[in-house]
Amino acid sequence: MSATFTIRLISASATYSLRNEVLRPGRPATECKFPGDDSKGTFHLGIFKNDIIIGVASFMKNSNPFFEPISQFQLRGMAVLSKHKGLGIGSLLLKEGESKIKQENQDPFLWFNARVTAIDFYKKHGYESFGNKFEVPGVCEHIVMFKHFKSKKKLEV
Ligand SMILES: CC(C)(COP(=O)(O)OP(=O)(O)OC[C@H]1O[C@@H](n2cnc3c(N)ncnc32)[C@H](O)[C@@H]1OP(=O)(O)O)[C@@H](O)C(=O)NCCC(=O)NCCS
Repeated sequence: MSATFTIRLISASATYSLRNEVLRPGRPATECKFPGDDSKGTFHLGIFKNDIIIGVASFMKNSNPFFEPISQFQLRGMAVLSKHKGLGIGSLLLKEGESKIKQENQDPFLWFNARVTAIDFYKKHGYESFGNKFEVPGVCEHIVMFKHFKSKKKLEV
């Protein structure tokens, strides 16, 4: 039987164990709760294989002062379980989040602090880097990346 992948909106707390395993292995679980997780405008996506969660991504309504677009979202906690990496799961999650942001916002924009090890993944999805690399203490080197979208939201008259 072939696997079925489904993407669903999930709660912040449903992301924590996967964030912990992929992004903060061996670190306290408390590090996996991010500021903004429960804020208005934040949404979390989970991708499931036969009803088991294998990847997560969070999109937070958060503006970066270096950018001007009105509807800025920050991507956080993008994580795919290692045994499912390289199968297109991360791409599905990213595209679903992008699609939701484009449908629901005027002047949509997505930015994030990318791990340098994932820069090429994001470049394949049309993201550009901004500024210099910087160290996130205890994690690894990062760089800001971004993409400015055309809105799919109908103008309200
Ligand atoms: C980075 C990550 C989210 C990508 O998810 P994924 O499901 O493995 O990626 P996909 O299979 O959708 O890959 C899409 C393309 O990007 C490439 N790619 C994926 N991860 C890459 C990486 N780290 N470096 C370079 N290329 C990468 C794939 O080879 C694929 O290329 P192709 O289209 O030419 O075949 C996932 O590997 C992961 O969770 N990594 C560990 C945590 C992490 O680094 N998260 C990002 C924090 S900013």
